[in-house]
Amino acid sequence: MAVAIPRRFISLPDLAEARGVAPAKYTQGLGAIEMAVADPSEDTVSLAAEAGRRALAAAQLDPDQLGLLVVGTETGVDHSKPVASFVHGLLELPRAMRVYDTQHACYGGTAGLAAAVEWIASGAAAGRSALVICSDIARYGLGTAGEPTQGAGAVAMVVTADPAMLAIDVGISGASSTHVHDFWRPLGHRVAEVDGHYSVQCYLDALAGAYRGWKDRAGVTSEQLARICYHVPFCKMAKKAHAQVWRCDLDDRQHGDPLATWDAAAEELAAARAFDTQVAPSLLACSRVGNIYTGSLYLALASLLDHDRTLAGQRIGLFSYGSGCTSEFFSGVVGRRVQDRIEALDLGGVLAAREQITIAEYEQIMAEVSPQPDSARPGFAFTGVRDHRRQYARS
Ligand code: COA
Repeated sequence: MAVAIPRRFISLPDLAEARGVAPAKYTQGLGAIEMAVADPSEDTVSLAAEAGRRALAAAQLDPDQLGLLVVGTETGVDHSKPVASFVHGLLELPRAMRVYDTQHACYGGTAGLAAAVEWIASGAAAGRSALVICSDIARYGLGTAGEPTQGAGAVAMVVTADPAMLAIDVGISGASSTHVHDFWRPLGHRVAEVDGHYSVQCYLDALAGAYRGWKDRAGVTSEQLARICYHVPFCKMAKKAHAQVWRCDLDDRQHGDPLATWDAAAEELAAARAFDTQVAPSLLACSRVGNIYTGSLYLALASLLDHDRTLAGQRIGLFSYGSGCTSEFFSGVVGRRVQDRIEALDLGGVLAAREQITIAEYEQIMAEVSPQPDSARPGFAFTGVRDHRRQYARS
C-alpha cells in the first residue's frame, strides 16, 4: 500500500471558529482534527499517480509484472477517458494490460479491489499482479454542513497472489444495495448534493445487511475479528457503525433465544469498549486527513496496520459503503510481511510533510479552478488544459 495526500491542511478547531461553531462539534461530534486541502494542481489523477508510484516502489514490483490497473474514483476528470488511463501514461506502465476506472461513490475502490482479487484467484492473471488505486477529492462547499467532512487523497494497493499485508478471504463477503438519493453529484457540478442525516441512516442500514451476509458465509461474528475497519466519511461514523454491528449480533442472539434477557446498559458499555480496541486505532490518520471517499476505508486500514504492529496472522473485517447505495463487508488475514511494508508506507512521514494553512488561505484555494505554476511542488501535478487535453508534470 501507499498513500498520497495534498501538501496542505487546515485545523478543524480553526474552521469551527471561522464558522461560529463550537470546536467540540467537529473534534468530538464528528471526530475530525485536521482536513486535507487540495489545490487545483492536486487533482484525482496527480494524487493517484503519486500513490501508484509509491506503491510500486514499496512492493519493489517490476511494472512488467502488472496485468491490470484499476482506479476507483467518484471524482474523475473526464466523462470518457478514465483516471486510470492518465495514470497508466504517467507511470509509463506496459501496454499489455487492462486499464479502467470503477465507479460507485465511495465503494468504487472496493469494486476495483474485488475485481483484482477475483482476477488473480480465478487464475486468469496467470501469475501477473494488479495495481488498484482509490483517489478522490471530497468537496461539499464552504459553509455547508458537509464542509468539515471534506478531504482529499489516494491510496494505492499492489494486489498479488502472495500478499504481504493482507490476504483477503476470497468469496467470503456480504453485500447490500438499495436505490437511494443520500449523496450524489449531478454531471457538471463541482460539489456533491447530500442529504447528510439520511446518508448516515442509509450507511447503517446497508451495514446491517452486508455484515449479516458476511457472517452467514464466514460462520463467525464480529467478536472473533481482531479489528474492524469501516468506511470513514468522518470518524464518528465508524463509532456509529461499530454500535450497529454490535446491535446486529445482539438482535441475532435474541432471535436465537427469545426467552433470554439482556442488560442494555452493560451491552452499551461493552460495545464502547470493543470500539476502543477493535476500531479506534484505524481512525488516527482519517481524523487528520478527512474524507477521501473511495480511499477512506483503505486509509483506515493503513492507519490500523501502522499503529498496531501485532496483528500478523489475525483476521480483520472491512466494510465499504458507497452512497446511492451499495456496500460490502469482507475480511482478510494480516500478512506476515506487514511490518516491512508499513515501514515503507511511512504514514507518519506522509502526514508530517504537510503544511498547515489558515482558513482564509483555504477559502482562496477552494475558489481556484486553474492550477498555479509551482516548480517547488514534489510529485505529479496537473498543470492545465491545452487543446482540450489535460497536462501533467512531475517534479
Ligand atoms: N460538542 C460535542 N458534540 C457536538 C456538539 C458540541 N458542541 N454539537 C454537536 N455535536 C455532535 C452531535 O450531537 C452529533 O453527534 P451524534 O451524531 O452522535 O448525535 C454530531 O456532533 C454532528 O452534529 P449534527 O448536528 O448532526 O451535525 P450536522 O447536522 O451539521 O451534520 C453531517 C453532520 C455528518 C450530516 C454532515 O457533516 C454531512 O452532511 N456530511 C457529509 C455526508 C456524510 O459524510 N455522510 C456519511 C455517510 S456516507
